[in-house]
Order: sequence, then structure tokens, then C-alpha cells
Amino acid sequence: MIQFTLNGQPVSIETDPARPLLRVLRDDLDLTGAKQGCDMEGECGACTVLLDGQAVRSCLLPVGKVAGRSVITVEGLGTREHPHPV
Ligand code: FES
Repeated sequence: MIQFTLNGQPVSIETDPARPLLRVLRDDLDLTGAKQGCDMEGECGACTVLLDGQAVRSCLLPVGKVAGRSVITVEGLGTREHPHPV
């Protein structure tokens, strides 16, 4: 069981800790704001999320490494009333 905070909410997920965070976000958690723009080789940056406030490419990040940490996707930026400029 991998537990982390996603856009301010606690998340628990049972999965292979070696899976890329991008795949877990899109395929398991239905958050499609982070995109796959290359062959998941870290070249395009379309998959960027914030991990404890630092921009990281989620295609290169095994989901097991986010345990106990905070992830913010584009869906977690701003509010419906006050959307973030990103
Ligand atoms: S999908 Fe291209 S850098 Fe992650």
C-alpha cells in the first residue's frame, strides 16, 4: 500500500511501486492533467507535477518514491473561481 497526499487529499493505492507516477495518476486515479508527450524518457515535460513543491517529471518517478510525500498536479492548482495561470 502506497500512501501520499494528492492535491491536498490523502491517497492510498495498491500497486507495483515501480510503476511511473504518471501512469498511476492517469490510469488509476483518473487525473489526466499530466500528459504523456514523449516516450516517457523525460524529454518533453508534459507530465510535470509538483513533488513537495519541486517540479518533477512524473514519467520518470516510480510511484513508490512518493510515499509519505505531497504531489500536486495541474488539477490541484488554483480553484474553480480563481484558476492558476498555469
Ligand atoms: S512524458 Fe515526456 S517528460 Fe514525461
